[in-house]
Amino acid sequence: MKRLGINIDHIATLRNARGELHPDPVYAAQFVKSNGADSITIHLREDRRHIKDIDAKKICAIKNLKVNLEISTNMAIVKTALKIKPNYICIVPENRKEITTEGGLNLKINKDKIKNIIRKFKKKEIRSSLFINPSLNDIQISKEIGVDCIEIHTGHLANLVKSKRDYSKEFTRIKKCAVLANKLGLDIHAGHGLDYKTTKLLSKIKEIKEFNIGHFIIGESIFFGLSKVIKKFKKITK
Ligand code: PXP
Repeated sequence: MKRLGINIDHIATLRNARGELHPDPVYAAQFVKSNGADSITIHLREDRRHIKDIDAKKICAIKNLKVNLEISTNMAIVKTALKIKPNYICIVPENRKEITTEGGLNLKINKDKIKNIIRKFKKKEIRSSLFINPSLNDIQISKEIGVDCIEIHTGHLANLVKSKRDYSKEFTRIKKCAVLANKLGLDIHAGHGLDYKTTKLLSKIKEIKEFNIGHFIIGESIFFGLSKVIKKFKKITK
């Protein structure tokens, strides 16, 4: 069985829209864990668009909860992450104007910088991961960098499936990357843009051990949870 990591950034997005405390991402982290999530992911962005430092600190302090903290290569963020000391870190590319993480890291340009960052996390016994495009070359570079794990960006595949275009080449590319990474001894995660259909499709790749899913799960929960909340209000206002 694959592990399911749940990204709760958008709980914080919703909270921040009002500048108040509800819905609380710290409570959300505990809630998703008690409902079966194997780990939770939070992205501490340079612009602090959703998760704030205090959220990350509190979430990483929750006992028996595996937290995967996504960060960019910005050294101030790296320093903060080293202090927060999550179980796992995942280095992702970041660009201020993006709506979401648009692609994997550029490992050719950033190899030495990332290697240096990974070394710092290893010293603190924090498992490290790199968010990369499905490219055989990037898998090789990830191995050279000395990371424990890679997360394959599945956004392109997800877009092809959603727009009903031929996704077979992209699927084969991801499969080949997973096979190579497995041979090299890297743990393999996959994420971005996943929904029921794409997760089912990618579940066929046995080398993938973990999915990290955020936006679709949070969006879908609105429809599965809304009827309960409306019923509760009807009862209160009766
Ligand atoms: N994995 C990584 C490394 C990400 O950056 C993101 C998006 O923040 C996700 C998974 C989750 O993507 P989505 O919200 O589209 O499910």
